[in-house]
Amino acid sequence: MSFKIPFLPEQASSFARDSDHLTFYLVAMGTFFTVLIAVMVLGFVVRYRRTHPDQIGGSFDGSTLLEVTWTIIPLLIVLFTFVWGAKVYFKIYRPPADAAEYFVTGKQWMWKIQHPTGQREINSLHVPIGQPVKLTMTSEDVLHSFFVPAFRTKLDVVPGRYTTMWFTPTKLGRFHLFCAEFCGAEHSHMIGWVQVLPADEYQNWLAEVAVPALPAPAGESGEQLFARLACSTCHRDEASVIGPSLRGVYGHEVELSTGEKVVVDDNYIRESLLEPTAKVVAGYQPVMPSFKGQVSEDDIRALINYIKGLAGGAAAATGAEAEGVVR
Ligand code: CUA
Repeated sequence: MSFKIPFLPEQASSFARDSDHLTFYLVAMGTFFTVLIAVMVLGFVVRYRRTHPDQIGGSFDGSTLLEVTWTIIPLLIVLFTFVWGAKVYFKIYRPPADAAEYFVTGKQWMWKIQHPTGQREINSLHVPIGQPVKLTMTSEDVLHSFFVPAFRTKLDVVPGRYTTMWFTPTKLGRFHLFCAEFCGAEHSHMIGWVQVLPADEYQNWLAEVAVPALPAPAGESGEQLFARLACSTCHRDEASVIGPSLRGVYGHEVELSTGEKVVVDDNYIRESLLEPTAKVVAGYQPVMPSFKGQVSEDDIRALINYIKGLAGGAAAATGAEAEGVVR
């Protein structure tokens, strides 16, 4: 009879190995120095013990060589660790440009997920193998944390802003997905599965099994919301005196009234909807009202996709709401 005690979960993403190598290295380093120090402490205790009652210690004036050695060597070790750690960190937290974007909303106590093509599911995420997957995540209530141990990736899901993480699944199968932030009484039930499928099976799943996208609340697309909330009164195709045009701004830098520059991304649009005076575009007055409480997370998502669509580039039209918007 043999037992296999897993020290770490399966390696099921493109950077799982990098993360594990770094972990092993840190554990090995920690063990080496712990043992070294323990052995030396014990060795010195024995070697330099007091052997008769009137013995007193000798004097020692220090050693430059010793000081330099135990400063330089640890310095090199920690610098090496820092560079290696930073490399792995950047790999894990910088999504590639070609990643398919999925939206994740955490709420007490479930995960709601929307596919790039609009299908939705709860507490499970189906993805095709070998494709980079980017998750854009937010929370409807409190802090949660999206954690897939087999992919070696985990990130906080924060109310009021978007966080993004990514992975490329390299193994077929089911992998546990956890909420890794204590978020209330049912926190431990906020779990699910990531299901990694071959590309063709994923397509079948999307076509047959997945719950099709519900229409946005009240059945409104980003375009309809843009009209109903009267965004179009101030944000027209050509810049008006009240507000800048939103055409083609997504993904580009704009100058603010403070002289700072900011890239128009999901978080900036979101902030501008909820807190319009925080970052006002240069040349305009802070006259836009806040839409806090008037728009849901889904509405914000739809509006962002609509504005993304106005950019008219290839980067647009991910997300169901953007469909039919890019013309
Ligand atoms: Cu959500 Cu713990």
